[in-house]
Amino acid sequence: MNFSNLFRKKSTKTIIQEGGDGEHSGLNKVLTVKDLTFFGIAAIIGGGTFSAIGNACFSGGPAVVILYIMCAIACGFTAMCYAEFASRVPVSGSAYTYAYVSFGELFAWIIGWALIMEYSIGNIYIAFSWSGYFTNLLETFHIHLPEWLTINYKSAHAAFLENKAGEGLIAWQNAPVLGSLKIIFDLPAVVINLLITYLVYRGTKESKNFSNAMVYIKLAIIILVIVVGAFYVDIDNWTPFMPNGFGGVMAGVSAVFFAYIGFDAVSTLAEESKNPQRDLPKGMIYSLVICTIVFIVLALVITGMVSYELLGVSDPLAEIFALKGVKWMLFIVSIAAVVAMTSVLLVFQMGQPRIWMTMSRDGLMPKKFAEIHPKYKTPSFATIVTGLVVGIPIFFTDENFVLDFTSIGTLFAFVLVCGGVLMLSPQSEADLAERATKGKFRIPYVNSKFIFPAIMVVAVGLIFKYVPTFFTDILDFSDGKMATNLPMLVFLLVCAVMTFLSFTKNLSLIPLLGLVSCCYLLTGMAVSNWMWFGVWLVIGLIFYFIYGYKNSKLNIGN
Ligand code: ALA
Repeated sequence: MNFSNLFRKKSTKTIIQEGGDGEHSGLNKVLTVKDLTFFGIAAIIGGGTFSAIGNACFSGGPAVVILYIMCAIACGFTAMCYAEFASRVPVSGSAYTYAYVSFGELFAWIIGWALIMEYSIGNIYIAFSWSGYFTNLLETFHIHLPEWLTINYKSAHAAFLENKAGEGLIAWQNAPVLGSLKIIFDLPAVVINLLITYLVYRGTKESKNFSNAMVYIKLAIIILVIVVGAFYVDIDNWTPFMPNGFGGVMAGVSAVFFAYIGFDAVSTLAEESKNPQRDLPKGMIYSLVICTIVFIVLALVITGMVSYELLGVSDPLAEIFALKGVKWMLFIVSIAAVVAMTSVLLVFQMGQPRIWMTMSRDGLMPKKFAEIHPKYKTPSFATIVTGLVVGIPIFFTDENFVLDFTSIGTLFAFVLVCGGVLMLSPQSEADLAERATKGKFRIPYVNSKFIFPAIMVVAVGLIFKYVPTFFTDILDFSDGKMATNLPMLVFLLVCAVMTFLSFTKNLSLIPLLGLVSCCYLLTGMAVSNWMWFGVWLVIGLIFYFIYGYKNSKLNIGN
């Protein structure tokens, strides 16, 4: 094995010549800025907004708003990096392709592998949340599914072990038995996955129309929730503002970050966009800005309506209106949740096959993954595999595990995308002029040489002033402290290295801030997440060395 092959890079030119511009890829080029923005919103507002927000408010209190702002800042910088790449490399592979251009093949593979966590594993969480709200909706029509068909096996088993009264225990007690196995699975989650897979298999145009309609409905209903909810806000609920300290706020990082995931999914539609280099960046940034405003206002409203202590439920938006006795809103919120999550499922289920398709074109995945359906013009085989990758774990896993797993994998991909922009070689004056005349996006270059070190000095000064014991506490690796202190120490190290590099290499400020802010969010991840993430990466590397390394197109070209 030749070590340097691991870092062989693809040039932007080669990627575009290979048909990555979409002209020859066989996909339908139908999407406009509006469609892309709608796709972004369709992907962003979903399970994080309707379900995960509850636990984040419960642990952080009203100060969860700070976390929404922090995640918006990290995602905003990252969106600009995605936009820069999307403008330079307008192909469907998203962060995977971007890493191939900037870091080389091994990192590209790692990103492609991490993106499975974002798209497929993320969809498992959303399918579970979808099922929760869908079952509520059925109940309003007096249709009751047996508990053993509305909960996953793992949660029911846990409820049985803890003897915890509720749906899980009822499911465990009433489930039919086959041999020695209790039949317990989340039927609505399985069915919605089948339907979405079918829709995506049938084609982008159909999916697009469906998605646009759903976005109108969900935005309208969320605005209604905010407006109606605002009448019930009691500002006393905002005190105490940070009941569990900053640690409590950071405990919600997986959930809040999960809510933002999705703007990047727009970049997987490069080959179906009419003018990807101009429109993809706009679609990503517009959708992120709209959703950030919605999230911050929504978090203020729900923490203002009831005490944060009542929000630790899986359907918080329904719960707040139930607590206030506004019954008609319960029904509307359940409809909105079902619609919102359906659109997220759709966008992610479209994104995953397109990433695999790109990896397959590069030889890192079997050829079959790049196969385009002759009639529907969609990556049909990859779409079916995605359906299986989402559908099968629905029988074995639970929602909390997949939520954390999705967030850590996606943050990791974001860090590499920001790092990738820092590694890009500067473009020639002629290229830049061409981009400007064609309206293609370009990340503004601000030299970080003095600004970044100054930010670091101010940050350290503020820490000394307000948390004087911070730098001594961080070195405490006794039981229980290691899990939070080690990631923080690594983060400080990253900051120190980046400060040095910003000064010596005149790094571009925006991607640098993106990288550092995403790294900071990673420090909030629990140690068990890191462990599972490590296992996932090792499995990915084994795949790469067994298949991808040998079959890489760059290898054959050598
Ligand atoms: N942001 C998406 C959601 O909350 C993943 O469902």
